[in-house]
Amino acid sequence: MREDHDDRSGRARAMTRRQILGIGGALGLMAATGLSASAALSRRPPITGAELRSAVPLPPPFQVPLPIPAVLKPVSTKSGVDHYEITQREASAEILPGVRTPLWTYEGTFPGPTIESRRGRPITVTHRNELPVPTAVHLHGGRTPADSDGYPTDLILPGSWPDATHGAHGAEHGMHDPRAVLTKLTRDYTFPLDQRPTMLWYHDHRMDFTAPAIWRGLAGLHIIRDDAEDSLGLPAGPRELPIAIADRAFAADGGLDYPSVDPTLRERPGVREPYLAGVLGDVILVNGAPWPVHEVDAARYRLRILNASNARHYELEAVTDDGRRLDLVQIGADQGLLATPVTHQLLPLAPAERYDVIVDFSGVPIGSRVRVVNRLGSGRTRDVMAFRVVRNATDDSRIPRTLSNDLPSWHRSDAVRVREFSFRAGQMHGEHGWLIGGLPFDPARSDVTVRLGDVEVWRLVADVHHPVHLHLVGFAVLARGGRPPLPHDAGLKDTISLRPGESAEIITRFDGYRGRYLFHCHNAEHEDMGMMANLEIT
Ligand code: C2O
Ligand code: CU
Ligand code: CU
Repeated sequence: MREDHDDRSGRARAMTRRQILGIGGALGLMAATGLSASAALSRRPPITGAELRSAVPLPPPFQVPLPIPAVLKPVSTKSGVDHYEITQREASAEILPGVRTPLWTYEGTFPGPTIESRRGRPITVTHRNELPVPTAVHLHGGRTPADSDGYPTDLILPGSWPDATHGAHGAEHGMHDPRAVLTKLTRDYTFPLDQRPTMLWYHDHRMDFTAPAIWRGLAGLHIIRDDAEDSLGLPAGPRELPIAIADRAFAADGGLDYPSVDPTLRERPGVREPYLAGVLGDVILVNGAPWPVHEVDAARYRLRILNASNARHYELEAVTDDGRRLDLVQIGADQGLLATPVTHQLLPLAPAERYDVIVDFSGVPIGSRVRVVNRLGSGRTRDVMAFRVVRNATDDSRIPRTLSNDLPSWHRSDAVRVREFSFRAGQMHGEHGWLIGGLPFDPARSDVTVRLGDVEVWRLVADVHHPVHLHLVGFAVLARGGRPPLPHDAGLKDTISLRPGESAEIITRFDGYRGRYLFHCHNAEHEDMGMMANLEIT
């Protein structure tokens, strides 16, 4: 613990609130002077969150090899269903060279093992919770029946957890939520995976404690494939790489630093005062390694990028040693392939977003490097990772002009309803919170009820950065700030990055399953501090 009770004093509190609201104030000013807020801010995007400083020496960049998370083997594949088992347990890993870091893991690694599945072939995953706290597993981007969606009060209690009647905080929520389904020690999740192929991720979703649990390591990848995608000729095998980017900070003892009010994560949720807008680390990890390097052929590679950070936004570019920016050819979004590729030089990436991108290293001199740079970072957080081009190679991959033709084309006129939600700072139980439509999350309240099959337009309005995520459905971006969507909004998404002061419109059809789902901000600290709401599909 680096800070004492001072940072909970009224003065610190007032300052922080002023800092947070300061952005809104600036926006008001700009609006008054007729300056477009998004135009002004896009020149110098503000950071939402506060950065922790690591207390151990950090390694130089581009030394550690890029790890590729192991692909999990099913324990059985009987009658068309693949069955997996994952144990959630404490483990330690050498993330920084020579430093042991205790983690909370899926199967002992961070990220957890990758699950690879086929479209339409269901899987079940038995999670066993050997951690000291309750957990809930959510497959982000999955079209999943509600009882397997990892609702934040549907907890797997540790075997040693006190009887629910004694109510430690996490389970208490379950007690106050009549619909919560608590299980002890294990829980089976069923995923039909009847959805477009894409890269999903699974992560913890326990009410009030999601951010610190993900930070400690509870996140892993899930890739869905199908025959149509396999036949496109995209780079594959060793030329397809998962790139899960997450920032962390390290305490003097080598452990991950995180400003929890209650570091046991058993009783009191929340983070200390300066970090209410989001927790940022000063170390950039890719697949769990700090600023790694990966040796590549002079050929095309498919990068399946996930921003697994709690609060940090990135603007990625790929820069050669001689200062050239390589094209980032986007072929897919959160929810699978685009209709046709979109070429970027700079790719914005908000928490929980995924981008499927082709980079061509064939024009890069052998022996030189391509650095992946975060334009929003400063100092050490400007670097993300590097590729070292080590050999010439043949390349028979291609990027077809038509990638997919099964994207839904919803029109505004299809919508039976337009709803509007604000995502803003506010008060929650007398403390700082983050609110949707003026209210903090309450599992017992019904916020939105949608009829199965209905098409709706949602208008989302933000004060600061809020990456807004809907469970169950993919959506299309209709507009931002009354203008057409941005180039990286293409395709089917499940998370939209709202920029400060922005209002955006999305459209979707609520189909798949009936039941209780969620939508929320995926700044994980905002999510834990109330910025989540119930989405009931009937
Ligand atoms: Cu990745 Cu409800 O979230
Ligand atoms: Cu989700
Ligand atoms: Cu938010």
